[in-house]
Amino acid sequence: MNSPVMQGLNLNVPAYVKHAKLVAWVADMVALCKPDNVYWCDGSQEEYDRLCQELVDAGTFRKLNPAKRPGSYLAWTDPSDVARVEDRTFICSEKKEDAGPTNNWMAPAEMRATLNPLFDGCMKGRTMYVVPFSMGPLGSHIAHIGIELTDSAYVAVNQKLMTRMGKAVYDVLGTEGDFVPCMHTVGAPLAAGEKDKTSWPCNPTTKYIVHFPETREIWSYGSGYGGNALLGKKCFALRIASTMGRDQGWLAEHMLILGVTNPQGKKYHVAAAFPSACGKTNFSMLVPPKGFEGWKVTTIGDDIAWIKPHADGKLYAINPEAGYFGVAPGTNTLSNPNCMASLDKNVIFTNVALTDDGDVWWEGMEQDSGSKPAHLIDWQGKDWTPEIAKETGAKAAHPNARFTVAATNNPALDAQWDDANGVAIDAFIFGGRRSTTVPLVTQARDWTEGVYMAATMGSETTAAAFGAQGVVRRDPFAMLPFCGYNMSDYFQHWLDMEHKLEEMGHTLPPIFCVNWFRKNAEGKFVWPGFGENMRVLKWMIDRIEGQTQGQETLFGVAPTYGEINWTGLEFSAEQFNTVTSIDKAAWQEELKLHGTHFEQLAYHLPPQLLQTKASLEKRLAELA
Ligand code: OXD
Ligand code: MN
Repeated sequence: MNSPVMQGLNLNVPAYVKHAKLVAWVADMVALCKPDNVYWCDGSQEEYDRLCQELVDAGTFRKLNPAKRPGSYLAWTDPSDVARVEDRTFICSEKKEDAGPTNNWMAPAEMRATLNPLFDGCMKGRTMYVVPFSMGPLGSHIAHIGIELTDSAYVAVNQKLMTRMGKAVYDVLGTEGDFVPCMHTVGAPLAAGEKDKTSWPCNPTTKYIVHFPETREIWSYGSGYGGNALLGKKCFALRIASTMGRDQGWLAEHMLILGVTNPQGKKYHVAAAFPSACGKTNFSMLVPPKGFEGWKVTTIGDDIAWIKPHADGKLYAINPEAGYFGVAPGTNTLSNPNCMASLDKNVIFTNVALTDDGDVWWEGMEQDSGSKPAHLIDWQGKDWTPEIAKETGAKAAHPNARFTVAATNNPALDAQWDDANGVAIDAFIFGGRRSTTVPLVTQARDWTEGVYMAATMGSETTAAAFGAQGVVRRDPFAMLPFCGYNMSDYFQHWLDMEHKLEEMGHTLPPIFCVNWFRKNAEGKFVWPGFGENMRVLKWMIDRIEGQTQGQETLFGVAPTYGEINWTGLEFSAEQFNTVTSIDKAAWQEELKLHGTHFEQLAYHLPPQLLQTKASLEKRLAELA
């Protein structure tokens, strides 16, 4: 390997970087990737503004009308680079069984032999940005540090909003602190003097999102899209961190964290897992409806939770992120008023549409303005009108269009969101998207039943997105695409928590299962959702306080109609029955599907889950 100095490239290491191993790694990666320059990000506002301007000059960013959307930018990606690429995502553990049947696997040596030639010279003609970031409050005992090397300024500025990014990270790291090395390239090297042909450089044909769990490394090639390129998020905070949690006795989860304060000022903290695009951001920013005067919901996180046991006998959670990378379409003042307020200024939008007055638009915004704009430029740079949309079905914004915004923009931000100790978790919620079968809410009778509920949760596909409508894709713990090791070992890790925590004198939080998405015979959603979910949250708090009895059902303890506060909402006992009833035939089918799901996860499947299934079958057989 040529040393960078031999290539005539100065590493420009800032004086405040005192970590010899880190500098040596950067030098090695420079020698491999051969960038034209190396730039060490300091995380300052001045740096952010300068990099955004460079992205504007390169055509990647468009500055939005400052009168409409101050400090905000719009990026349109290559049409081939709009989402996470699950089929190109690999867990390269030494043993295939450790990746499990739900992950793509390749032997580490083979993967390294594949990646090495791809990364060799991959940053030619570009700058390598050295991006230091803390996942979690700086210096928190629950937090961990990563260093991302990337040739994308888009990644560097997004990381500034999504993580605690900058100089101060090196103070925490000191001379030999641990960090997760995160390599990222758009995979589009330039020949000498060559300029980018498109404003979104990426590799349209070759993508690899690779995790080495044993050595805790991430290598991402060919994509600039957030979930594949902002390596602190899914790659580190979920896939790598879940393996760290397995080895070190903690949990890295695809969960929002919210605070809920009652009118007497007592505050509870809830961590909730839902599959992607099932309303996690909306739930984390919920505005209590009529009838809940004096109640307050505050956001700690909208996507990821790191949860560690504490000496006081409780589980403490932090949000490792510092911003939101959310789905824009469908967001409006009805579904999420706090989110809309967060997006007023200082936002990076990706793949939404551009209005004629230099603002942004996406499907769902017509709810607020009463109509669709007469003309837009869509996310692919083409003219869009409501007539064109009617004729061709063209979407103005890509369905996975995103906003990136700092958490501090959120008017409902929890005062403890940046607390280094985290917040004590009072309840876990697991929710899927099911039009039938799974009731609105039940509480697991014990920890194992809760793990069972989470292990079997599923999301129904829509015809447009995944093929035949009504097909249930099991998404255990909402972690299917994000668990960095064998899913059944992950179930065991959750089950083992019970005994480990009890030995430490902990009381375990109750586990609830929810489903906001039941439909009636006409195919219409029955439960109003959004802010009205507060009514379910309140019932959970009543359960925590022992103020309500509930009723035993097949699938845990459920509320009676009279136990829910209905003030301000017309919702009849009959409608309640439609969203809560347990249909014997549907559950016979459901339990068969649980069986198939468990057969697929047979390697190391905890026997307790099969025992729980057997006892559910027994209860079902006894149902009238
Ligand atoms: C996300 C996802 O981007 O879950 O949060 O896909
Ligand atoms: Mn997510």
